[in-house]
Amino acid sequence: MNTNMTEKKKLVVFFSRTDENYGVGYITKGNTHIVAEMLASETEADLFQIEPVQSYPAEYDRCIEIAQQEKQAGARPEVKSDIRIEDYDMIFLGYPNWWSELPMAVYTFIEKHDWNGKLIAPFCTHEGSGLSATERRIQSACQGAKVLRGIAIQGSTAQHDASATRKAIQGWLKALEQ
Ligand SMILES: Cc1cc2nc3c(=O)[nH]c(=O)nc-3n(C[C@H](O)[C@H](O)[C@H](O)COP(=O)(O)O)c2cc1C
Repeated sequence: MNTNMTEKKKLVVFFSRTDENYGVGYITKGNTHIVAEMLASETEADLFQIEPVQSYPAEYDRCIEIAQQEKQAGARPEVKSDIRIEDYDMIFLGYPNWWSELPMAVYTFIEKHDWNGKLIAPFCTHEGSGLSATERRIQSACQGAKVLRGIAIQGSTAQHDASATRKAIQGWLKALEQ
């Protein structure tokens, strides 16, 4: 699909968590955050982070417990600030794979906005599950948007191998342009 990306007003929106995570120990910048920054610099897009008001526990085991409860409850954790996605044509939407789902705070953000006519390019970081079915879930949550083929990058690769990460992003962007 030809997305004519250069002509579009682009935004990278992402959710990401620091502290202890699977396969990377304690980190000071989240894996998805690293990918989001690279993507924004590659595409000259604006950057916005979805931040929950209530932060998650620093310990991985506690965090996965809370995230599972939120998923089961269909929670919509309150988020800190917002951005007018209405001002953009193309939105790169980034998130970690949490229990084969988007973190619930990403839905909080999605549900604040009108996605009609937007192009959405999903990107996720993960430790084995890839995108799971998140592209389909985004399509149902963002009525009227066109969801492009997403990319999944292993979190530990994003954290430790900038060159492989950049290469993966560039390959994906090229494929989106075709
Ligand atoms: C609450 C939670 C649930 C997770 N669930 C999965 C999962 O189902 N599948 C998977 O491959 N990785 C899972 N992971 C690993 C994250 O997807 C991976 O570490 C990701 O890169 C974290 O991104 P971040 O640093 O931007 O938050 C989970 C991590 C957390 C904290």
